Amino acid sequence: MSILEAVLAHRIVPVVVLERAEDAGPLAEALVAGGLPVAEVTFRTAAAAEAISIMAGRGDMLVGAGTVRTVAQVDQAVDAGASYIVSPGTSGAVVQRALERGVAVLPGAVTPTEIQAVLELGLDTVKFFPAGTFGGPSAIKALAAPFAGVKFVPTGGVGLSNLRDYLAVGAVAAVGGSWMVPADAIAAGDFDTVQRLTAEAVTAARQ
Ligand code: 3PG
Repeated sequence: MSILEAVLAHRIVPVVVLERAEDAGPLAEALVAGGLPVAEVTFRTAAAAEAISIMAGRGDMLVGAGTVRTVAQVDQAVDAGASYIVSPGTSGAVVQRALERGVAVLPGAVTPTEIQAVLELGLDTVKFFPAGTFGGPSAIKALAAPFAGVKFVPTGGVGLSNLRDYLAVGAVAAVGGSWMVPADAIAAGDFDTVQRLTAEAVTAARQ
């Protein structure tokens, strides 16, 4: 099983935004205890690389970098210990650099033209972002018809109430989202809430 397959086998990928690297340790603990030893730590904050390094350093989590938009960020993420790279869109340069650095890469694509571009780069799995805005489960079903074999990871607007609708679509490998890692809970140091929301998500994905 590849790294990406191992990540997606969890069926849910927490999308993490951390303002303070010191929150990475307790956050990782809560995710693991809640049953999701996986995270996409986004390069939307200056704390991302250090947070990746802390979480990946545990050795019991699959840690990727999200919101990777540049080749320089690919290098920063991989140097910090990220084992996969997620982009909001598809950049040939970002994909190429990730592959050169020996890590998995999940680019964003929501249109037929974008999906074809991903296929031409030799990949078969796309982040479908922002999923709610771009048509939700029915859009993925429609795209899966011409693009048989392509796997989708919808993210953006996914939550406890609709994750099963997405996971019921055969072409959906996993869903991503931030609902189990709310910014206010992290800011308050309330990692019990993160653990509870994570466990709830895992249970919902199994139903
Ligand atoms: C992402 O980067 O994948 C999204 O911002 C997560 O979307 P959500 O906050 O709606 O879950």
